Amino acid sequence: MKHLLSTQELTRDEAIAILDTADRMAEVGQQSVKKLPALRGRTVVNLFFEDSTRTRISFETAAKRLSADVINFSAKGSSVSKGESLKDTAQTLMAMNADAVVIRHGTSGAPQRLATTGWIDAAVLNAGDGKHEHPTQALLDVMTLRQHRANLTGGETQGTDLEGMHVVIVGDILHSRVARSNMWLLTTLGARVTFVAPPTLLPVGTQHWPARIVFDLDEALAENPDAVMLLRVQRERMHAAFFPSEAEYARWWGLTPERLDALDRAGATTAIMHPGPMNRGLEISSEAADSPRSTVLRQVSNGVAVRMACLYLLLTGDDAQ
Ligand code: CP
Repeated sequence: MKHLLSTQELTRDEAIAILDTADRMAEVGQQSVKKLPALRGRTVVNLFFEDSTRTRISFETAAKRLSADVINFSAKGSSVSKGESLKDTAQTLMAMNADAVVIRHGTSGAPQRLATTGWIDAAVLNAGDGKHEHPTQALLDVMTLRQHRANLTGGETQGTDLEGMHVVIVGDILHSRVARSNMWLLTTLGARVTFVAPPTLLPVGTQHWPARIVFDLDEALAENPDAVMLLRVQRERMHAAFFPSEAEYARWWGLTPERLDALDRAGATTAIMHPGPMNRGLEISSEAADSPRSTVLRQVSNGVAVRMACLYLLLTGDDAQ
C-alpha cells in the first residue's frame, strides 16, 4: 500500500493489519513517554483545505508520537486565498521534502489527484474529501467496534474482523463521507450495515450499495444493533431545505432521551457512536452523548492510534513489530 485514499479499495487483510498495528500503537499512548523513534527524520505535511479539529490534531499527534517532523498547513491564511492552485500548493510543500501528505479537501477526488498525477512523490493520506471518503475515520470506528465486542465477550481484538456485527448509521447520508467509508469497511470486515435517513438525505444509487435502507429509526433500534452511529447534520453543505425543522428532525431521526430509555429497557448492548463534531439536541441528545453507552471520546483516542498505524505502515512498509 503506497497511499490511503479510500476504504473501498482496502482488502480485509490490509484493514486488519492496520487495526492490529493501531492496537499496539494505542499502548504507546498509555506510557509515560508517549513516543517511538520509528519515523525520526521523516516529514509529514498536514494539508487542510477544510476545517477540522479531531482529524488535524490527531494526525499531528500521531506523527509527533512517531518522532516525525510535522508541517501544518491550513488554507485559511495561506496563499490559497490569493488563488494558488492545489498543484502549486502541493509542490511548494514537496520542495520541503515531505514523505507523507495528509490532505482534507472539499472536492471529492482531490487526494486521488495528488496521488496519481505525479505532482508529488509522497504517500498521500485522505483526511476527508468532499462527500467521497474519510478512511481513517472508518478505521477508528472499526477499532472502537472491535473493542466494544471484546469488552462484552472477553474475546480478542487482534486478528479479528466484525463478522456478525450489525451497525445502524443514521442521518445525513447524502453529504457524509463518514457513512460511505464506514459502509465499505464494515462490509469488507463482515458486518451488516443499515442506513436510516429521511428520503431527502439519501443520495441516488443507494440500491447498488451493500447496505439496507430503512426509514424508521425505532424499527432499526428495536433490532438491538451492536452500534448506532449518528451522523452530523452538515448544515454547511445544505443549500436547500432537507427537512421541515430542526425540532422535527430531532423527533424523527435523533437519538432522543426517549430512544435511549428504550435501549436501556430492552437490555440492549448497543454502543452509541458519533464521528464529531456533534450537534447536541439535533442528531444526538446530550443524554445519549454523555451516557455510559457513548464511545465518542474513545473514538477520538482511537483516532490517534489508527493514524499512527497508517503513517507507520505507509512510511516504513512494515506491519511486523
Ligand atoms: N470526525 C471528524 O472528521 O472531525 P473533524 O472534522 O473535527 O476532523
